[in-house]
Amino acid sequence: MKIAIVIYSYTGNTFSIGTKIVRFLQNKNHDAHLIRVNVNDDQPSKTEIQLGEIDSIAPFDKVIFGSPVRAFSLAPAMTKYLQQIESLNGKTVSCFVTKQLPFAWTGGNSALSKMVSLCKEKGAEIDRTGIINWSNKNREQLIEQFIRELAE
Ligand SMILES: Cc1cc2nc3c(=O)[nH]c(=O)nc-3n(C[C@H](O)[C@H](O)[C@H](O)COP(=O)(O)O)c2cc1C
Repeated sequence: MKIAIVIYSYTGNTFSIGTKIVRFLQNKNHDAHLIRVNVNDDQPSKTEIQLGEIDSIAPFDKVIFGSPVRAFSLAPAMTKYLQQIESLNGKTVSCFVTKQLPFAWTGGNSALSKMVSLCKEKGAEIDRTGIINWSNKNREQLIEQFIRELAE
């Protein structure tokens, strides 16, 4: 299966999960590709984000999107990216977010539901979703478990 892992990441946490996902899927003989969302002039609190060149995800059967939570919502760069991309019709999509604060209600749930609804608007069929809390002491196990679920 041809799978794109599309990650927006500012400080690298979400991207590090993307690299683990792509390695895991490639070891399972999937044609998996890691794509990083390009942002010009990125600043953590900026909402007027200018995206760089957008790689086409048309050739992929499945897409996994990953983004950090920003200010109790989805990072503006990922919001803009999902608004700008082509149709996701016929694609299976999984979404995950990373965050620092404990409890899903400190931005995880709202970021994830925004991500899911933007993907549905583009015609995606949603598969797995996940929230990775970076401050959780069992973070590495949570990440491994989520990656195994993604591959099922
Ligand atoms: C400007 C800013 C706002 C943030 N807002 C939240 C938030 O509302 N809730 C939360 O749990 N974490 C928040 N975080 C923490 C990030 O979501 C977390 O560190 C994430 O893993 C960073 O991912 P990245 O390294 O891929 O950019 C915020 C971080 C920044 C820089």
